[in-house]
Order: sequence, then C-alpha cells, then structure tokens
Amino acid sequence: MKNILVTGGAGYIGSHTVKILLDKGYSVIIIDNLSKGNKKLIDPRAKFYNFSLDDKNKILEVFDSFQIDFVIHFAAFIEAGESMKDPQIFFKNNVVNTINLLEVMLEKDVKKIIFSSTAAVYGEPEYVPINEIHPRKPTNYYGLSKLMIENILESYNHAYGLKSISLRYFNASGADEGGSLGEMHMPETHLIPLILKVANGSRDKIYIFGDDYDTEDGTCVRDYIHVNDLADAHILAMEKLDEIGFDFFNLGNSQGFSVKKVIYICKEVTGKNIKVEIAKRREGDPARLIADYSKAKNVLGWEPKRDIYEIVKTAWKWHENENS
Ligand code: UFG
Repeated sequence: MKNILVTGGAGYIGSHTVKILLDKGYSVIIIDNLSKGNKKLIDPRAKFYNFSLDDKNKILEVFDSFQIDFVIHFAAFIEAGESMKDPQIFFKNNVVNTINLLEVMLEKDVKKIIFSSTAAVYGEPEYVPINEIHPRKPTNYYGLSKLMIENILESYNHAYGLKSISLRYFNASGADEGGSLGEMHMPETHLIPLILKVANGSRDKIYIFGDDYDTEDGTCVRDYIHVNDLADAHILAMEKLDEIGFDFFNLGNSQGFSVKKVIYICKEVTGKNIKVEIAKRREGDPARLIADYSKAKNVLGWEPKRDIYEIVKTAWKWHENENS
C-alpha cells in the first residue's frame, strides 16, 4: 500500500482529495497546522500531524516514521486580496515552507510531488479560454507566490530530478456528494458559499462586485470546477507522474458563468429568495477567466464529470444545515 503525504489535508480541496485517496486504498498521512484547515474535515482513517511546514525537524520526523511514496502539497494561504496587504506572510508560508518540504524530500530521496497551483498565475487574461502557454503575469502576490513555487519545481526537476505536476485550479467549488465534506473558509470570501449562506438565512444578502464589466450581463465570468473533479485530477496526476516527469495543467470546465447567472442557478436549486445588492468592483478581479483544459484531457485523461448544477446542488447539501 502506497503512503501519500498530504499537506493541507484538513483544507477544502485537500480533504476531498484525502477521502478519494483513502477510498482507493492509499494510506494517507496529513500535515496541517489548522490555521486555515478544519478538524471537522480530517478523515479519521488518515494519520494526522498538527504542525506548520516552517518546522523542518517535524517534517523530517514524519519522513522518518513512514516510507513516503508521494507528496501532494495543498498547504498554503489563498486569499488574493490579503496577499496585497501582507505579502511577507504569503512568501514565508507558501514559498519558504515549500522549500523546507522540498529540502526534506530531497534529503529522504522522495522525488515525487503534486502541487496545488492556481489560475491566478496567469493574471489578467490576454485571451480566453486560457491554455498553459498563456503568459504568466500574476496580478496579486498570492498568484506570484504560486508562480515562484512552480519555477522552483522546474529548477529542482532540472537539477535534482524531482518529479512534479502543478495543477492550476480555476474556481474550485461544490462539495462531496456524501455530505460530510464541504467548503468552510474562515472568513468566507468565495461566491457560491456566500450566496448559499444567504439562502440558508445566515447572511442577509449577496453583494455583486461590479455590474459594469464587458461581459454579457456586466458581471464577472468564472469557470467553476467541482472539488471532486479536482481531487480526481490529483490521483491521475500521481499515477502518471513517473511517465510525465515534470508538467503543469489547467483544471476547469471550459465554461464561463457570470455572477448573476450563478445567483440565478442558486435560486433555482435552493428554491429560496436571494437578496442581491450591486456593489463596487473588487480590486484585481479580471472580467473573464475560463480554462482550456484540453492538455489535461489529452495527457492525464482527465475530464470534469460535474456541471454547475451539480456544484450548486452538492454545495447546498453542505450549506443547507449551516455547516459553515
Ligand atoms: N463575487 C461577488 N460577490 C462576492 C464574492 C465574489 O460578486 O461576495 C464575485 C467576484 O468578484 C468574482 C466571482 O464572484 O468575480 C468569483 O469570486 P471568488 O472570490 O469566488 O473567486 P475568485 O475568482 O476571486 O478566486 C478564485 C480562487 C482564488 C484564485 C482565483 C484564480 O478563490 O484562490 O480564483 O483566478 F486565486
């Protein structure tokens, strides 16, 4: 049985991936300091270590205790807006801590890693759908921190033979169909959970950040991708890593939905009235982000299986009883 080390396994995408790994018979070791993750999302079948990746000795202890076969690295700060106010914590937490992890991996001769990257590495799109050769010019320090790690992984592949796949997520959303996992960021800033919190009565209204964009209805368009489709991609990437060696892939649905359209779908799915107010644009929001995922399809054999309705239905199952 293969031992998979999952950093950030108590987070949103991490916890969903852990569940699928365990269901497939992998053995999972989680490192998470619970600064953003949540105890509720930790699968009891996994081994759990509560510490931060800034502690290299503790990482070493884990590698001494288990013969790790693969690392899947989710642990990171993700708030793009926050990164503009305090870039230092993003570079320390995301970049420096990844360097620590990689140092231990090289020391212990574990040379396989799947890395959580983001569409934010591209910045303002020059064209859509965005493919992997689109220029990478992040417009926030969060995206920059992820781009720095992608570049580090490339140089480590070249110099040390470290194998890696970076997965660039578009808008992760939805929840596990079983109802035991879902999205619970603190504080919540993402569109779909915020709309559903209005539907379940825990918030008063949803603010639409700008309705004067150059899109069909003036609101921003995003490519929403189900969290379990993302989780599936990690397993495929892991299984193909030996053959691939080093690469990066966009993960999205290649379909765009405007903020207004998402609110409409949430109304349809929940049957609830959702109070809306138009607000100012949010700084740094591109008008339209849509993935071209054909490379992931051709190379990994990955395709999204769930659409926006499935995303909202599963997320509603999670939020209906106010899990967040
Ligand atoms: N939005 C609103 N009102 C809200 C929240 C969001 O109108 O209360 C809008 C945003 O302006 C944006 C869209 O809904 O147009 C989606 O916003 P999210 O905050 O849900 O997601 P983002 O597209 O801003 O960010 C996501 C990930 C980031 C990642 C980025 C990559 O959450 O981690 O995609 O492009 F960096």
